[in-house]
Amino acid sequence: MGVVRQLRQISADDAGVDTAFRADVHAGLSQAQKAVPARWFYDTTGSALFEDITALPEYYPTRSETDLLKRHAGEMAAAIGPGRAVVELGSGSSTKTPLLLEAITPSAYVPVDISGDFLRDSAAALAARFPGLPIYPVEADFTQRVALPREICPLPKLGFFPGSTIGNMVARTAVDLLRSWREALGDGSLLLIGIDRIKDIGILERAYDDPAGVTAAFNLNLLDRINRELGGDIPVDNFIHRAVWNDVHARIEMHLVAACDMDFTVDGRAYHMAKGETIHSENSHKYGPRDANLLLRAGGWTPLATWDDADPAFALILAQATEFRSAP
Ligand code: AVJ
Repeated sequence: MGVVRQLRQISADDAGVDTAFRADVHAGLSQAQKAVPARWFYDTTGSALFEDITALPEYYPTRSETDLLKRHAGEMAAAIGPGRAVVELGSGSSTKTPLLLEAITPSAYVPVDISGDFLRDSAAALAARFPGLPIYPVEADFTQRVALPREICPLPKLGFFPGSTIGNMVARTAVDLLRSWREALGDGSLLLIGIDRIKDIGILERAYDDPAGVTAAFNLNLLDRINRELGGDIPVDNFIHRAVWNDVHARIEMHLVAACDMDFTVDGRAYHMAKGETIHSENSHKYGPRDANLLLRAGGWTPLATWDDADPAFALILAQATEFRSAP
């Protein structure tokens, strides 16, 4: 079957720039606490930098999750059963996906990612590895409404949401997302989701501020991307990468810190930053076992099984679309 076709569900302007990117940057830079949503990290350069992050000794989530998939694929397959259409949210390079697809005998694979080029390459690589499997890549922002390929309509579904990407959303947005995918995937669907656990702050902060500076480059690329795509003149060298644990929100925050007072423009619009002011560029929320289960239940998913890696702690949780019925 191979790659059937790549659907594009992104609206771009005449310059080919994602209209939502432009709007988010201006809205975010106009706030008292400047902020740009983390999804805008993932242009082609940013997606490649994220791949480099996953290979860092300090960045444990990818390794922990891959180990879990390797060690427990059999149990997961038994719980999931064969014949499901796997819909992966934020598939990126799809490096963990083969471990899952090999174990469960799926009927189709639908990778959903915001980075179109990256999606194309990884879908082609997977097609070569799974020649009989129909693959329907969808270039879309999975936090928005995504139209699933018609062909998978009648098939039972498994949402696959690895990497603890759910952690990038604040609780309210995470619940909205889980609820909307509960509706999109439908009754009888399952969700296999990666959740990063709360752990030693030193381990967490090093994972997001590595000595090799790869995470710093990933964070700073956001400014380069704004300059490149939105005709900005942000003096990127005047910014410093910062990653800190926020205990109230149980999350790592990434910021771009202004090293001096500065003025710049984006799209001809003027912005000022004072020394020490920051652009908040990412949240990465961490969840204890009960936190994660509550989040899933609030989003319409009933946890069925959890596979935990102890060191450093990371979990894969299998949940079932909650049946809505009259109950106390
Ligand atoms: C891919 C979103 C899960 O939050 O850990 C890695 C992104 N940011 N290093 C994360 C990221 C900085 C990553 N996610």
